[in-house]
Amino acid sequence: MRKVKVLDTTLRDGEQSAGVNLNESEKKEIAKQLVRLGVDAIEAGFPIASPGDFQAVKKIADEVKGATIVGFARATKTDIDSVYEAIKHAEDARIHMFIATSPIHMQYKLRKSPDEVLETAVEMVKYAKRYFQNVQFSAEDAGRSELEFLARFTKAIIDAGVTIVNIPDTVGYMMPNEYGAMFKYLKEKVPNSDRVWFSAHCHDDLGLAVANTLAAIENGADQIEGTINGIGERAGNAALEEVATALYTRKDYFNATTNMQLEQIARSSKLVSKLTGMIVPGNKAIVGANAFAHESGIHQDGILKERLTYEIIRPEVVGFPSNKLVLGKHSGRHAFRERLVALGFTLTDEQVNVAFQKFKELTMKKKEIIDDDLMMIIDEQQLKESK
Ligand code: KIV
Ligand code: ZN
Repeated sequence: MRKVKVLDTTLRDGEQSAGVNLNESEKKEIAKQLVRLGVDAIEAGFPIASPGDFQAVKKIADEVKGATIVGFARATKTDIDSVYEAIKHAEDARIHMFIATSPIHMQYKLRKSPDEVLETAVEMVKYAKRYFQNVQFSAEDAGRSELEFLARFTKAIIDAGVTIVNIPDTVGYMMPNEYGAMFKYLKEKVPNSDRVWFSAHCHDDLGLAVANTLAAIENGADQIEGTINGIGERAGNAALEEVATALYTRKDYFNATTNMQLEQIARSSKLVSKLTGMIVPGNKAIVGANAFAHESGIHQDGILKERLTYEIIRPEVVGFPSNKLVLGKHSGRHAFRERLVALGFTLTDEQVNVAFQKFKELTMKKKEIIDDDLMMIIDEQQLKESK
């Protein structure tokens, strides 16, 4: 099975989420959890952005072992120097530089011609190679770049010494077929493409970040990038827990895997949510509170007979202790009885029928029925029976 490398950018692109501001010790705590999760590379931050960012990246590089530590930089000498100072003591260091390659970005943001952009990139890769063996380069806004220019650009930076070429869909514009085809095209058309890894980096503006990442894997991406809980600029980045679990659940389809320890997913998600203050929506795939909750009677009945009926992933696989049969207005007698048994009540069929009736009446007033409600129903019923 093919092994796809994972670069986690929760601490860099993830921290670019509006309203998120992590301090040094919070960043270190997340980085240590990312090592437990088994990501291959941790993008620790953008050292030139502020003295605080520099210190946090340095601390992670100095103290967190077990993953490659990546520092982010624009294609400028001052940014590259700053990354070097921040991560030079890392167990395994990598610089990640970028410059935009789309006509829109080159014309309006950089005010440079394509040839000037290419020259700058080549010059800065050569500069970075003085410090780093491992140089990753991103063609920012690759999703809206012209393919022929992107291929020429890719060839030039590989010749200059990059080891990883990242093809970001910076504004989440691409459709999965298009994004996958880009990887295929570059791998086939760039003559020296076999000397480097190709990396996928997707944003979720159209809700396609995970689908696009999987399409890139299908088309030979060697590395994928994303964040925990999919946090990040605007609508966020590809959610790593979703990509890794999709590969695991559909290994028959992808025949690819990662080094991620799936049972660490729940813990990682909770930690990132707690420290960033970004609440995980209940219906979020894999880590949402409802991801393994079954409410309707038909589903609960199926689950109680055989979990495979409505569960394609066992919650234990991603670190949640169990699934949840939520008692609400759609729940059936079977799940209701099971919950009573779990609470220690042994009731006759007749008693269950009466209690079930009371429970259904309560669901007209309350959305979710908790164990205390059930105990109250049974207590009242037993009180009546004893009179
Ligand atoms: O989305 C992006 O393009 C990025 C960098 C890889 C430049 O975050
Ligand atoms: Zn990004």
